[in-house]
Amino acid sequence: MSSKILEEELRRPTVFRDPNVLLPDYIPPSIVHREEEQRWLARVYRPLLTHGTCQHTLIVGEIGVGKTVLAIKFGTAFEEIARGKGRNVDFVHINCRLDKTIHAIYGKLVQKYNPRWPYHGLPPEKLLDMVLMYLETHDRYLLLALDELDYFIKINGSELIYALTRAAEERGKKSRISMIGIARDPGFIDKLDQPTRSTFIHNMLRLSGYNAEELKDIINQRLELAFKPGAVAEEVVEMVAEIAARYGNARFALELLWRAGHIADASGSKAVLPEHVREAKSDVYPEVRREAIEQLGVHEKLLLLAIARKLKISGSVYVLTGDVRESYKVVCEEYGEKPKAPSKVWECMRRLASLGIIDVKPSGAGHRGRSSKVSIPDVSVIWLEKEIEKLLSKQR
Ligand SMILES: Nc1ncnc2c1ncn2[C@@H]1O[C@H](COP(=O)(O)OP(=O)(O)OP(=O)(O)O)[C@@H](O)[C@H]1O
Ligand SMILES: [Mg+2]
Repeated sequence: MSSKILEEELRRPTVFRDPNVLLPDYIPPSIVHREEEQRWLARVYRPLLTHGTCQHTLIVGEIGVGKTVLAIKFGTAFEEIARGKGRNVDFVHINCRLDKTIHAIYGKLVQKYNPRWPYHGLPPEKLLDMVLMYLETHDRYLLLALDELDYFIKINGSELIYALTRAAEERGKKSRISMIGIARDPGFIDKLDQPTRSTFIHNMLRLSGYNAEELKDIINQRLELAFKPGAVAEEVVEMVAEIAARYGNARFALELLWRAGHIADASGSKAVLPEHVREAKSDVYPEVRREAIEQLGVHEKLLLLAIARKLKISGSVYVLTGDVRESYKVVCEEYGEKPKAPSKVWECMRRLASLGIIDVKPSGAGHRGRSSKVSIPDVSVIWLEKEIEKLLSKQR
């Protein structure tokens, strides 16, 4: 590349002050909303601070509802306050999708306490021993956030949780490890042993999706840091918040704005305009959609596949629910599943609608009974069909 082109590009005006502020790993100065949830966590972990008593919680909620950021902000604040009160608490956040084996997780802990300790060739039990010994001899407590724990347990089973909660007692020592489990789907706790399961069930924090007003506040908190003054009008913030509120997903809102900003820059605009948001939406959508679809239950996937296929074949905007039900039965047969009763199918339909994946409307005049019509408003049905087929064949 010639230096002239490079210089020209680097001199180009931009709407951003610092786009990184909108990226998922940026930790905001404070959490907007979720006050009740923060208070709840403080109450549950209070005995750790006052008496060094271990506590375990599980934070659950759909994509982008702030599970990770809540755990990190809480953990770091707790660590600081505890230290001020003479209790040595170390907060460690581990993403189990990145550190996906027991060895990798213990290795992280060992490294935290002594980066010079060799840990590569050692068995996991030995690593845990080293951590427990360190905590004991230095009178420290570990507050460990295990993020994406559902993913980890699905792959590795429940051994990690068992070891972390019982190892100290089994060695006749005081427990010094408290956990914050983080998961999208709490279903994995069925795999845990009874005592751990009941701890998690009793200390479960469910985060619901954000509404448009809340998303607006989350965006506004970062606007001044991320963009130059006047680069994003209030109506654009509202537009982004409205779109993301369909999923309650804050990550989606911030990513949409990040992309819209880059599209504005590429087109030489001094401000982010509604058209840039529209264009960004079509870029961000597939990822968000893929994640949302992965989360669906088997019969929700089967039903969605039936709808996508019907729409593809008919080439029309809507298909009737009666026709969808027939197509659903065929799809069930193809995948060796027993079709659900009509009331259950209707429930699946409602969930798909509430996630914004399908749109259900009364079918209007000309059709018998309480028939409704279904559409998939803004994603390619051909793409959708392929994605679900891939997911369903993986599940078999
Ligand atoms: N209440 C909030 N205040 C400020 N920022 C927030 C809030 N909730 C979420 N965010 C931001 O939204 C993005 C998504 O949040 P986060 O990563 O915590 O979601 P998550 O629930 O962990 O999602 P996933 O299930 O995909 O891991 C992050 O950039 C986070 O900082
Ligand atoms: Mg997360």
